[in-house]
Amino acid sequence: MSRSAHPAGPRHADVLPEGHYTAPPADLNSLDPRVWAQTVERTPEGAVAVGGLDVRRLAEEFGTPAYVMDETDFRARCRAWRDAFGSDADVYYAGKAFLSRAVVRWLHEEGLNLDVCSGGELATALDAGMPAERIALHGNNKSDEEIERAVEAGVGRIVLDSFQEIARVAHTAARLGRRQPVQIRVTVGVEAHTHEFIATAHEDQKFGLALAGGGSSSEAGEGPAAEAVRRVLMLDSLELTGIHSHIGSQIFDMAGFEVSARRVVGLLTRIRDEHGVELPEIDLGGGLGIAYTPEDDPREPHEIAKALGDIVTRECEAAGLAVPRLSVEPGRAIAGPTAFTLYEVGTLKELEGLRTYVSVDGGMSDNIRTALYDAEYSVALVSRASAAEPMLSRVVGKHCESGDIVVRDAFLPADLAPGDLLAVPATGAYCRSMASNYNHALRPPVVAVRDGQARTIVRRETEEDLLRLDVG
Ligand code: LLP
Repeated sequence: MSRSAHPAGPRHADVLPEGHYTAPPADLNSLDPRVWAQTVERTPEGAVAVGGLDVRRLAEEFGTPAYVMDETDFRARCRAWRDAFGSDADVYYAGKAFLSRAVVRWLHEEGLNLDVCSGGELATALDAGMPAERIALHGNNKSDEEIERAVEAGVGRIVLDSFQEIARVAHTAARLGRRQPVQIRVTVGVEAHTHEFIATAHEDQKFGLALAGGGSSSEAGEGPAAEAVRRVLMLDSLELTGIHSHIGSQIFDMAGFEVSARRVVGLLTRIRDEHGVELPEIDLGGGLGIAYTPEDDPREPHEIAKALGDIVTRECEAAGLAVPRLSVEPGRAIAGPTAFTLYEVGTLKELEGLRTYVSVDGGMSDNIRTALYDAEYSVALVSRASAAEPMLSRVVGKHCESGDIVVRDAFLPADLAPGDLLAVPATGAYCRSMASNYNHALRPPVVAVRDGQARTIVRRETEEDLLRLDVG
């Protein structure tokens, strides 16, 4: 979402420079509940606390940068999704957003299933005790080892992504004497993004099998997806349970899901007519958006569940099909809002007439999303309250390139000083999971906080960890 420049000025600029920002908030100390995890609050003393713990104490104990995850919020979001979808549907948390053993246990305890897309994610899920039948394996290029491990473990579903994979999974299942439940991932001809969906050029991508045949409309369904169904139904070692569609990420508008559901139901109808079987499952994937800044306005799980349920029911009734069991795969919408990244302020550089560059002790190695997607984030001073005037700032990291930006445009108090703590909210998804060792940075820990207790669930990397891999 683009935001426009506002005439309110920072202390050092009469004319605001180019940027994507709105007015400074009336109170720089306020914490907008849309972007902060549930138990985050500013204490009477002025510092911020999460789960009842002062961030200054967390910084002291665990160091910075650190991802601080509100376990209470994570669990509450799991329950909200599970309750919203009810017993006729399954919620698969998308592990790519952020996965660790503790997260797997929370999911298990809160009654969610898990979507994994690599051997590493599968290993984490199994190691932490997620029952295999509650795991779905994704991926456009699964290795033989990954397939074998998943079939052997007895995962509840493998989502097939290509013709070659149909043969490979069937072969592995036959060799292991199993009948493997599978879904077929289809591309429905709609690619959804934040506030719009694009109905062209959608089949031109690496995932899934297209519903549309060459040159024909996606509605027709005579494409590679229909052929994949034919092939899977002929193989004894595969049990085709449903059709899967994932249309994009950070989506706020339900219209794209509506088109997707209609086209998936169209394929189910075709399968019934052609093969005489009614498939019992539909998976509409993940992609539901969250608030990174107060301008973002995401849907609540119960609104999403109602919208998706209504669409699927309506389309199935129109086609005379029994309503299949629905599943969804939210990753960001569960993990994203539950964590913030805690940084310590280092160098401050005021560029006269432009903005102040605020360097923190992390950067693109712990949050690549700003550099990679031009993502927008919020930021707040959390180690104290401040009555100083707003200062137009850019929060940058310590890496050796100018694109190393964490928060492109933000207002911070003008008395900001080295040693202050900043927190960037909504970093629970796709930050630790996409972190790198660029410049031999040590990836930060993930600290889970709940009811006044904090514990490391993923520890900070050490120089020893780095050197252990360097065996030359
Ligand atoms: N299911 C499938 C098959 C997916 O490919 C994905 C995400 C999800 C579920 C979960 O989507 P979510 O609800 O988290 O949006 N690195 C990017 C996001 C890539 C998502 C890829 N697939 C980012 O940082 O925005």
